[in-house]
Amino acid sequence: MSRRLRLNAFTMNVVSHIVQGQWTRPDTRQRDYTSLEPWVELAKLLEKGRFDAIFFADVIGAYDVYNGNRDAAVRRAVQFPVNDPSALIPALGLVTEHLGLAFTLSILQEHPFSFARRASTLDHYTRGRVGWNIVTSYLENAANNLGYRGLPLHDTRYDRGDEYLDVVYKLWEGSWEDDAVLADTERGVYADPAKVHEIDHRGEYYDVAGPHLSEPSPQRTPVLFQAGSSERGREFAARHAEATFISARNIRGARANVDDLHRRLVLAGRRPDDLLVFQGLTVITAATEGEARRKEREVQEHLSDEGTFAVVSGWLGTDLSAVDPDAPVGDLRTNAQQGIVKSLAEAAPDKTWTFRDLIFSIANRRIVGTPEHVADELERWHVDGGIDGVNLTYTTTPGSFEDFIDGVVPVLQDRGVVQREYHEGTFREKLFDGRVGPRLADTHPGTAYRRKAVVA
Ligand SMILES: Cc1cc2nc3c(=O)[nH]c(=O)nc-3n(C[C@H](O)[C@H](O)[C@H](O)COP(=O)(O)O)c2cc1C
Repeated sequence: MSRRLRLNAFTMNVVSHIVQGQWTRPDTRQRDYTSLEPWVELAKLLEKGRFDAIFFADVIGAYDVYNGNRDAAVRRAVQFPVNDPSALIPALGLVTEHLGLAFTLSILQEHPFSFARRASTLDHYTRGRVGWNIVTSYLENAANNLGYRGLPLHDTRYDRGDEYLDVVYKLWEGSWEDDAVLADTERGVYADPAKVHEIDHRGEYYDVAGPHLSEPSPQRTPVLFQAGSSERGREFAARHAEATFISARNIRGARANVDDLHRRLVLAGRRPDDLLVFQGLTVITAATEGEARRKEREVQEHLSDEGTFAVVSGWLGTDLSAVDPDAPVGDLRTNAQQGIVKSLAEAAPDKTWTFRDLIFSIANRRIVGTPEHVADELERWHVDGGIDGVNLTYTTTPGSFEDFIDGVVPVLQDRGVVQREYHEGTFREKLFDGRVGPRLADTHPGTAYRRKAVVA
């Protein structure tokens, strides 16, 4: 398979993630999110469908931008309540063998020293199947929950992110030498003290002595995902990420975004294929076109407008109750997610995008139809848009994933577009089809912190 399409299931440890209002339906298990069973069953299903990963979004604050309060978000369960996604990883690792297990953690949320240990621990328990989605947060309430007294400025958050990554690279890649662990029962020596090193990081945001508390895990550094696509976000992706999520409005926008990322990767001294680009898409499929359209109507009937406005207001950092829907978005300035505005110009540079268009494009970025039609469309995104993978959003769970796995996956497999079997090894080896080993590729800046590199 030359350039296969990768599949991620996009989910969140919540009642309602992206498509709002669907939790009220009898045919979804979203309300069961506080039990382990639906998650365990979903992971097994995804592995049966040869998905690359289950991917958990996360936020650490309430959506309180719409109407200037959190009432709509609380009422409609808009990513609230939200449980910790990383707590699910060991259970999902135990019931699967190959599925990648990726979760989100904001660099504002936790000190890099304790996070590095948590990630290493999870990478041990899953035998190297962990991925980390590095985000910088966009909700004021999240920052206020963590003692920042307001959301730090957009680009400053990424600056902090750069230093956060430097700290964790030092811990994961540089603190323990490969042969530090001896586990020599004869001599009673577990590890060689000469091969376990402090990191002595002194920076603008963090001072960390080290050594790292965990011994090296299979991947050392988990597979690094990222999801910001502002100017600064793309620069950050080109430096650190091995996979990035984009939210292009159409195929033209995806191509522009992908080309821009490839250009930035080369400038950062990496190869274009060092970064896999995943597009977020919702698929509604059934055996016949008519049945798929019926399912779409069902989604529309349950869609919560208030929930949609609450979530998009949070992403944009702009209260949509106070905006004329027919006003042009223009070059809306926001301290929240800047990549959304950028994606509009890339999708249709000559169009005057209104807020109504923007909300519609978010709520309706769907592929609806028979498995053959969906496969055709995904191939267009893949070939013409240049994406490497899809981040599949659900309307019902596990129903959306079941429909996709039963209907679309076999068609894509017959066309040689998606994998039939998993590659051996860690999540990183599987994702890159063995082109990269269990650890960071040599072109990745994190490798500069490896002991040999530091000593040389
Ligand atoms: C598809 C997608 C998924 C995202 N998922 C999350 C998430 O789960 N948690 C979060 O805090 N931010 C998430 N973000 C936000 C970004 O990661 C980023 O930290 C921030 O909003 C700034 O983005 P920008 O560079 O586009 O301005 C997501 C963004 C996109 C496009």
